[in-house]
Amino acid sequence: MAEMVHVSRHPLALDKVTRLRDTRTLPKEFRELVADLARLLFVEASADLPVTSIQVTTPMATCTGHVVAARIGLFPILRAGLGMANAILDLVPTAQVWHLGLYRDHESLEPVEYYNKLPAELDIDLAIVLDPMLATGGSASVVMEILTKRRISRIKFLGLIAAPEGVDRIREEFPDVPLHLAALDSHLNEIGYIVPGLGDAGDRQFAT
Ligand code: PRP
Ligand code: URA
Repeated sequence: MAEMVHVSRHPLALDKVTRLRDTRTLPKEFRELVADLARLLFVEASADLPVTSIQVTTPMATCTGHVVAARIGLFPILRAGLGMANAILDLVPTAQVWHLGLYRDHESLEPVEYYNKLPAELDIDLAIVLDPMLATGGSASVVMEILTKRRISRIKFLGLIAAPEGVDRIREEFPDVPLHLAALDSHLNEIGYIVPGLGDAGDRQFAT
């Protein structure tokens, strides 16, 4: 199990997730930190992408270079995953982005779908599910279920902060999906929030 759960030890990730948690961090800086962390985690999570060789001509000579040889699909879970997707697009501008809107029912904590813009055909080699928070794991599980039914065989999850409860659920339901996180926290509280966490990731990004 351990090798499927990657908690970044990069000093920049440690620094940025600490500032993200801080109650004094206002939405503008919060969004910038979400974006920076998403890019850092994506770099770590994409280290095994295949490449193919090409010839490239510089002003001085021709040499062998490499290009990424995988079609990447980004699956941000609305709302909070949006900031992660936009940031990762800076690194892989040709990635396809598919939006799925889910919110958690406050009583049951079950995800409720309200928007689904997935195309009929998913022609990708790697799906990356994006959500800052992995709490009960219910929202991530819904997306992975959809992708699995569409026969997407390679899925990765990028999240900023996770609770052990959510990690255990995804490990059990989707044992082949690696989780790339900036922090793995203590527990969920009685209303399903991650402790110490950062509060509500959507509200803090979008000042609601
Ligand atoms: C938050 C978060 C995840 C979900 C995680 O979304 O962004 O999508 O909760 O919880 P889970 O692991 O228990 O499913 P929220 O429902 O607050 O919606 P929002 O992004 O629109 O604020
Ligand atoms: N969603 C959030 O935004 N924060 C949590 O702590 C749990 C779910």
